[in-house]
Amino acid sequence: MSVLKENFLWGGAVAANQCEGAWNVDGKGVSCADLCTGGSRTTSKRITRAVEEGTFYPSHEAIDFYHHYKEDIALFAEMGFKCFRFSIAWTRIFPTGMEEEPNEAGLKFYDDVIEECLKHAIEPLVTISHYEMPFAMTEKYNGWASRECVELFVKYAKVLFKRYKGKVKYWLTFNEINAGTMPMGGYLSLGILNEGTTDFMNQKDIPALRFQGIHHQFVASALAVMAGHEIDPDCQIGCMICHITTYPLTCNPNDILKAQQKDQIMNQFCGDVQVRGEYPHFMKRYFEENQITVNMEPGDAEILKQGCVDFYTFSYYMSNCESADKDKIRTGGNLTGGAQNPYLESSDWGWQIDPKGLRYTLNELYGRYRIPLMVVENGLGAYDKIEEDGKIHDEYRIDYLKKHIEQMKEAVRDGVDLMGYTPWGCIDLVSASTGEMAKRYGFIYVEKYDDGTGDLSRRKKDSFDWYKKVIESNGEEL
Ligand code: BG6
Repeated sequence: MSVLKENFLWGGAVAANQCEGAWNVDGKGVSCADLCTGGSRTTSKRITRAVEEGTFYPSHEAIDFYHHYKEDIALFAEMGFKCFRFSIAWTRIFPTGMEEEPNEAGLKFYDDVIEECLKHAIEPLVTISHYEMPFAMTEKYNGWASRECVELFVKYAKVLFKRYKGKVKYWLTFNEINAGTMPMGGYLSLGILNEGTTDFMNQKDIPALRFQGIHHQFVASALAVMAGHEIDPDCQIGCMICHITTYPLTCNPNDILKAQQKDQIMNQFCGDVQVRGEYPHFMKRYFEENQITVNMEPGDAEILKQGCVDFYTFSYYMSNCESADKDKIRTGGNLTGGAQNPYLESSDWGWQIDPKGLRYTLNELYGRYRIPLMVVENGLGAYDKIEEDGKIHDEYRIDYLKKHIEQMKEAVRDGVDLMGYTPWGCIDLVSASTGEMAKRYGFIYVEKYDDGTGDLSRRKKDSFDWYKKVIESNGEEL
């Protein structure tokens, strides 16, 4: 008997703009991601507002999943995937977001991807919007800052629910919807591009617009959940939160309160709205103290209440500490930094590695929401090297994943209801934060480099065979 359920959804996760490429093929429109240049660990990506001749844009070719999906899904099947999390590029379906009719060629591409998954008995888990929206909506509406996006998103989501009804059972509305609580999420997650922004890492930030944008996404998500349930009563629709587990740096009550406040705004706020259907108590004071007014229309409260999600999913890469003492050493991280935890090691990108934090987080979340959970992103971004034997010996990645799976199992022993696990970037892809290829997460290596060179060939890393065994043994053999 294994600790994890028999039908545990083992798999991997990717996002359209980070893997598909084919950015202007078969009628696809320009997305916000298509206007981000390459960056590095130390230099920010640029946002260009229009495609510049001679500038390198990582999403334009990415790893060309668009033309390699059959080969890639076959490799996932070889590892034994039960589930594949991918996103649909909004711009393939509605190139500007504003068309009346969807683009048939875009829909057809995802028909094919879904068919390919089903052929291999892989359950598709589809993110409707993953850090990607038509740039035309940024130009016309400043992205989610405007209410118009709600209707456009719901139109798009309905098209997907109808088209893939009976084939896709699991949907997520917005990837890491709470990214919008942080300045970097302004453009990344909300398509908000304020005057004066050219630098992705240092966006001209207007917090009130971000929180207005998140409210619009909440309403859009809730309406999509309602529509999805109506169109296909058998499907399940979840939320997706970027969980940056936050500890107090010390037991000083000032640190404890600081950590709690960060946890509330960053981790709890969005999940509370999407699971419980209402704004949590602590937001009122946060809005007041930060001069934020969120306009809500009559009926929004009811919509949020009616459009609660069926399951809760999240990404977990790392944890951070908070300290009331500003002089404490700071460290980087996924979307946000924090105080450095002296007990943890970090990845080459400064993300603190904390497997036990995953057990802690799963317990916290399950205690709070009491609905099934799923870890839909987790992984180690690392520099991989092809050795002389032509192989990639990524024992550091195996070590990272193994320790996290161990803790996931502990959480299940603790009583948490866990549906599945889809580690991030199961095949190497473009980094969302830096635009690099050098930051690799995959079980499968793709010959593609930061200068755009590489023949796009795929090869298995050592972690490929390791993960295959993990899945085969339902997590018993690590
Ligand atoms: C998550 C995103 O925040 O982290 C992914 O949902 C992203 O899109 C992943 O790729 C890893 O982050 P990065 O910046 O290393 O690509």
